[in-house]
Amino acid sequence: MKKSVPLVVGNWKLNPVTLKEAIALGAAVAKKHKKAEEPCVAIAPPFPYLSDVGKKISKSSVSLAAQDVYFKNIGAHTGEVSVLQLKDLGVKYVIIGHSERRAMGETDEEVKQKTQITLKHLLTPIVCVGERERDELGNFFSFVESQLRNLSEVFTSIQIKKVVIAYEPIWAIGTGNTATADDVKEMQLFIESVLTKLYDRPTAKNVRLIYGGSVKPDNARTLQSEGGMNGFLVGGASLKAEDFASIIKAVS
Ligand code: PGA
Repeated sequence: MKKSVPLVVGNWKLNPVTLKEAIALGAAVAKKHKKAEEPCVAIAPPFPYLSDVGKKISKSSVSLAAQDVYFKNIGAHTGEVSVLQLKDLGVKYVIIGHSERRAMGETDEEVKQKTQITLKHLLTPIVCVGERERDELGNFFSFVESQLRNLSEVFTSIQIKKVVIAYEPIWAIGTGNTATADDVKEMQLFIESVLTKLYDRPTAKNVRLIYGGSVKPDNARTLQSEGGMNGFLVGGASLKAEDFASIIKAVS
């Protein structure tokens, strides 16, 4: 996956509540993105729908993504889903460390292990980072830095280039409070400077960064053209095929 090609991922979270609706939504997204090669597009339905939605989109250029993964492959782990199972269903991307999972207790260590196992089985991890709130002193920068440092403890330069970093400020998720294009640009430069420090400049330039947090059809174009990142992780707006299609169009 070339970093220069934008990536737009729809995170359906705990929606919809029936398989029928999920299949209809998957079909509608696939219909709108049949053959286009750019940007890369993926949807992340809840686990129970992956198989059916996957079949529905299989002839389109939309890929399948998962919202989480467990860090063990097999065994006595009630309620968990392994990367081998996801791979078997045709999943290409795995969202890891979403703030909604971190809020339920997911630790940096787990994020690392989940990323590790995802890379090992050649799926693309989308690792979420982002601060809970912005403060005048700019402490949120060191917060994001610590999340990146956590990854650099185990991943080589070659590995980190295969990871997508999704900057998702928690205050912007599902709130309608989108970060401004300036905020996003500032964070893009900051993340690149941290990755330069932790690795080197060519590595930093080759890690794909995407933005998430109240991305909508009406702000996507500006965020994409001025924000400096290359694509989006979209929650709420990915539940309407029309809106999701407008966002995809805005980055094309
Ligand atoms: P939102 O969610 O677009 O509804 O803010 C983004 C996310 O949580 O990935």
